[in-house]
Amino acid sequence: MSINVKSSEFPLIMFHATPRAMIGWGAYQMAGIETKAAGIKHALLVTSGLKGTGIVDEIVGVLKYAGVEVTVYDGVTTNPKDYEAHAAHKMYRDAGCDGVVSLGGGSSHDCAKAVRIIEHHNGASILSFEGFNDFAKPITIPQVAITTTCGTGSETTNATVITNTEKRYKMIMFERSINPTQAIIDPALMRLLPPRLTAWTGMDALTHAVEAYTSRMWSYTSMGMAISAVKLIAENLRNAYGNGNNDQAREKMAWAQYSAGHAINSAGAGVVHSMAHALGGYIDLPHGQCNAIILAEAQRYNLVACPELYADIARAMGVDTTGMTAIRAAEKAVEEMEKLRDDLGITEKLSDLGLKAEDVDKLSELIELHDVCKDANPRTVAIQDVKDLFHKCL
Ligand SMILES: [Fe+2]
Repeated sequence: MSINVKSSEFPLIMFHATPRAMIGWGAYQMAGIETKAAGIKHALLVTSGLKGTGIVDEIVGVLKYAGVEVTVYDGVTTNPKDYEAHAAHKMYRDAGCDGVVSLGGGSSHDCAKAVRIIEHHNGASILSFEGFNDFAKPITIPQVAITTTCGTGSETTNATVITNTEKRYKMIMFERSINPTQAIIDPALMRLLPPRLTAWTGMDALTHAVEAYTSRMWSYTSMGMAISAVKLIAENLRNAYGNGNNDQAREKMAWAQYSAGHAINSAGAGVVHSMAHALGGYIDLPHGQCNAIILAEAQRYNLVACPELYADIARAMGVDTTGMTAIRAAEKAVEEMEKLRDDLGITEKLSDLGLKAEDVDKLSELIELHDVCKDANPRTVAIQDVKDLFHKCL
């Protein structure tokens, strides 16, 4: 006799380990103590440089004050590249580092995770680790991840996304031991985020929340974190964008981005992330900006698969859905996403950023070959649907 366990598409839900996290005003001042506690004596600080903010110098000072030696790699760019991960790793080796501190948004955290993977495998090419990994020995190289944007969530996930520059696509790598050791999320650092980056990264967080809430790999736990992030973003992103010194809005966005990151770590993302990854790898467009442009259109396509979930999202975004059918309420959720995007001044289309109609087939092919995010998308995604979505966002 066999037991039928096929009660759902994903009958076993996995909860991935997440790092210890410290969230709040002044959390960054604990970076030295926490880095030392993680066992790091000489840190490679991996960052884009955060020029004009003074944050890198501040963190270097905090680390040194705690007696941690620091070497800085500040060459990370948007959609972190394979060669950047190897350049950072070379610096790690040459300086004799024993751990990493990543400082910035998702690009810095992901590059630092890649440094740990490369070092763990004695300098092997990062290109060898695309997809789902299961390392025989878990990575023990520590990482302290200090987040300065309101949209990454990477400080709490077991995934890293690195661009394969020769083939022009973003490789997603999963491995249970690449979570950072300690996350530090400080709204004080987010105050220095310019309005445009506040908008893009905030819309990235909203995309994480919406995609996790409607994911086919859903769980009660991930849905709770996702819907609370939707509410926080709907209530605070405009204020954080309009006035970067609005401390309450900054603090709530810090929680929102963390909760949304937590949610996708187990529930996965969806087709918006598939498309944004393709655009990032092929034409190096900013991740959050792409998500912001695609989000509403892709949810309009998705909503037929689970209108009741989108109705929840509408309510979380402040819509009174009394008397509405689930489908009408779901459409209202999409309208709210469009309103938020417009209020944040994101009026551009993908063609304004350089995407050409003739690139759409190539991008869709890359998604079919390499991107796993669409597998958790609430609506089963045919590749022709992806092409249609790209054309609608052109
Ligand atoms: Fe994202």
